Amino acid sequence: MAPDGSSGVAGCSIVHNRSFSDPRGSLSAWDDVVPFSMTRVNFVYDVPENSVRGLHAHKLIHELCVCPVGGLTVTVEDASGKRDMTISGPNEAAHICPGTWITLHHFQPGTVMLIMCSGVFDPKEIIRNRDAFDEFYGVAGAPKLADFIPVNTPIFLGDERKFLLDCIDTGWISSEGSYVKRFEEDMAAYVGRKHAVAVANGTAAIDIAVDALGIGPGDEVIMPTFTIISCVVQIARSGATPVVVDADASMNMDVSKIEGLITPKTKAILVVHLYHFAADMVPILDLAKRHNLYVIEDAAEMIGQTYNGNKCGSFGTVSTMSFYPNKHVTTGEGGMVLTDDPQLYERIAARRNLCFGPPRRFVHSEFGWNYRLTNMQAALGCAQLAYLDKSIARKREIGRLYTQLLHGVKGLHLPPDALGDERNIYWVYGIVLDESVGVEAEVIQKKLGEKNIGTRPFFWCMHEQPVLLAMGHCKNVSCPVGENLARRGFYVPSGLALTDAQIQRVAMELRTIMEAL
Ligand SMILES: Cc1ncc(COP(=O)(O)O)c(C=O)c1O
Repeated sequence: MAPDGSSGVAGCSIVHNRSFSDPRGSLSAWDDVVPFSMTRVNFVYDVPENSVRGLHAHKLIHELCVCPVGGLTVTVEDASGKRDMTISGPNEAAHICPGTWITLHHFQPGTVMLIMCSGVFDPKEIIRNRDAFDEFYGVAGAPKLADFIPVNTPIFLGDERKFLLDCIDTGWISSEGSYVKRFEEDMAAYVGRKHAVAVANGTAAIDIAVDALGIGPGDEVIMPTFTIISCVVQIARSGATPVVVDADASMNMDVSKIEGLITPKTKAILVVHLYHFAADMVPILDLAKRHNLYVIEDAAEMIGQTYNGNKCGSFGTVSTMSFYPNKHVTTGEGGMVLTDDPQLYERIAARRNLCFGPPRRFVHSEFGWNYRLTNMQAALGCAQLAYLDKSIARKREIGRLYTQLLHGVKGLHLPPDALGDERNIYWVYGIVLDESVGVEAEVIQKKLGEKNIGTRPFFWCMHEQPVLLAMGHCKNVSCPVGENLARRGFYVPSGLALTDAQIQRVAMELRTIMEAL
């Protein structure tokens, strides 16, 4: 295998292999799981009790530590924080990426450790001085995460710095630069769409989608009640009517309730994939086809998630994304509108850019917005998209670790790892308090806050939004599932910079809080 290009703590992980046992003994095979081309192997053995080894970093070389006998803890550190990887026995190994400060400790007695390396020994490639490492990798100036654990911290592992410098060096900083086009093409290719238009944020993307479809006075749009306000703003502003649907146990729109709400005025179904899983698209697309409705698909939280083998963002007549820092691809602020329809694409592109002519630039037949994305933001997006699949793999690791650590805590509904064939993407790790818990989520969030742990509440339903009620929308609507989620749901730190040690601290504090209730 070629070197996998990952670096830093976020790229490090525990790797498992296959082992074959028969009456003659066991064979531990490392042929197809080593995440780089192996060039050299070293052994460490005869380690005295309480020894600490490592205490260096590699600039280029990947290592895979495996213990045919015994085990140890491998701690890796960089500016994002620390991560402990404890390995034991011949079938698991710690993949250490370049750009991490390595500490090997807690060796079990008699441990034999084998270190597979991706490059030949080169003293110039090794940093042995901790201060020099901190300086070189920006740890010295980085904010220390040790105390407060924020709900999200983004991470930059690829060409972000290089591409941003390219914008500055070439002077292409506005929306006219080439990274914008490249980001659009790369995202369209990733999701499997014909056209993509990069915009200023995910809310802008929905505004444009609704307007480009010509939704306005007299139209109805069926949408989930349990979602972010961004979904409803342009529908309501345009004079159309939002018709809301309750959530189901997946937290997405309850598809069984949609058909009964379709009227001759219904023009579109706006579907949102929330928190963990894609919404159930087959019945939604079927209804849309049978009733000749547009589908607006908000895939802001599900970039990289699949449903029936297709990427989220590929299902809508128009689909949208957000690149806010808590998203799987971030450009600081940013969004995307995707479609396969060439005419819609023209309308979307025009709306991003104030609907400048034809017939001539400053003559306007329609209103648009200045919702352009800058070249600098798109540069970040191009770099981030290149390793999106790795970011998602880490999100899944984070989710599974939380579940493992919180398993059995009374009163918590933890998100399942899969729903049928669909795998949880853990955009965030969302928890819902059981009805038997005598308090609502905000009480638990406050207690976690007192322990220096950031959290966020779940969304608040559209049918309980004062702004919509004041406009006369959603009168006498009751959506008990969404109302319960809004009051009893919250999420814990879930960002890509989170270390395993931080996850352990969050889980431990939450367990203690729940047990003391
Ligand atoms: C489901 C969903 N849609 C839309 C948005 C809006 O995106 P933005 O914050 O980029 O405007 C968000 C934001 O987090 C979201 O979660």
